Amino acid sequence: MAPAILTGFLPLYVCLLLTPGFAEAGKLLVVPMDGSHWFTMRSVVEKLIHKGHEVVLVIPEVSWHLGNSFNVTVKTYSTTYTLEDFNREFQIFSDFQWKNPQLSLFSFLMSPANKIFDDLFSHCRSLFKDLKLVKYLEESSFDAVFLDPFDMCGLIVAKYFSLPSVIFSRGVFCHYLEEGTQSPMALSYVPRGLTALSDVMTFRERVRNQIWHLEERVFCHYFYKNVEDIASEIFQTPVTAYDLFSQTSIWLLRADFVLDYPKPVMPNVVFIGGINCQERKPLPKDFETYINASGEHGIVVFSLGSMVSEIPEYKAMEIADALGKIPQTVLWRYTGTPPPNLAKNTKLVKWLPQNDLLGHPKTRAFITHSGSHGVYEGICNGVPMVMLPLFGDQMDNAKRMETRGAGVTLNVLEMTSEDLEKALKTVINDKR
Ligand SMILES: *[C@@H]1O[C@H](CO)[C@@H](O)[C@H](O)[C@H]1NC(C)=O
Ligand SMILES: *[C@@H]1O[C@H](CO)[C@@H](O)[C@H](O)[C@H]1NC(C)=O
Repeated sequence: MAPAILTGFLPLYVCLLLTPGFAEAGKLLVVPMDGSHWFTMRSVVEKLIHKGHEVVLVIPEVSWHLGNSFNVTVKTYSTTYTLEDFNREFQIFSDFQWKNPQLSLFSFLMSPANKIFDDLFSHCRSLFKDLKLVKYLEESSFDAVFLDPFDMCGLIVAKYFSLPSVIFSRGVFCHYLEEGTQSPMALSYVPRGLTALSDVMTFRERVRNQIWHLEERVFCHYFYKNVEDIASEIFQTPVTAYDLFSQTSIWLLRADFVLDYPKPVMPNVVFIGGINCQERKPLPKDFETYINASGEHGIVVFSLGSMVSEIPEYKAMEIADALGKIPQTVLWRYTGTPPPNLAKNTKLVKWLPQNDLLGHPKTRAFITHSGSHGVYEGICNGVPMVMLPLFGDQMDNAKRMETRGAGVTLNVLEMTSEDLEKALKTVINDKR
């Protein structure tokens, strides 16, 4: 009898489930991360403001890009470092990557060039020392925190004020995504982050994947030790990175199964890879002129991202040499001293509208450091890539694109000018 009644009411239940709640604008606290991470997050925040949400941004006083924000309430707190310190440490980090290939998780997490992470992690302590700011945050009764988990402070803020949290990220180091969402890791066919393995692994590679994961279990704790200390200090009770990640309400991940390999995920993980491709503007006149002048061969777009625009001189000369040997016009985003052997077809620019250039029908190839933003702009616009990954997730991104036939990867530290020339000719002329 009971089942019959239930079935009878089924249409009613369905109607109730489908009745939308009142869509109200909310009050959102945003704790962003500096650098290229912020660019896409900012476009999302702009849309939220446009939809009528009230947004408050909490940022450190010292930052590269966070300060020049738009029409939004900004709360700053002081930092223990200056912009010069921060730049110097980033330079050390970046120089180190040019000299030392990333061989193991240990060498990445324990690198002596990682002092920049200490600064990143430590500014949360400064935030909580600012009692006026803490009081303001407490009294503002936000509905949620929208955060980039890279510097972890947003997670600490969400936990401290018991607010629902929405993560916005490409992913997180170590095993905290799987652990935090209680997903299985499937080490036999899901390569761990930073291994640059594909999903088709030999026995040896699977063993390596397994060992990498064991390394995560051992060393990640040291990498996040500073954060755990700060969080424990703030909460006055021991807090682990797992405690911080596991309370996340929604994970918005800038990935999907075009970029990443299939893996088990939980329903609160939402893939939003490629949202950075959507901003389109008409090309500025000077770029249009370059493109028009390039003739039937078209152009090649070359950028190593917004973080690395200077490279060692001998490397720049090798690259310049290879670029001179293709018939295309090359637009190279580069702010260092121009290499003396720069060919006539290569134009150095301090900045370029990457996504808009990639969307132009005359663009034949994209030379990229394969950061996730760039890779998505390559995929969205269907431009084949020559990838020169340097650090972080770039090796993984490059491997994924290569196994899908979207480009060719070169080891930027070891490649010769001929390698680059050959790779460019392959992606431009091989119609696959
Ligand atoms: C900024 O926001 C305020 C309040 O929402 C609004 O009155 C003002 O016109 C906005 N200014 C700009 C430049 O958009
Ligand atoms: C480039 O060529 C297009 C199409 O021929 C033309 O509409 C445009 O005005 C040209 N732009 C410049 C800056 O020369």
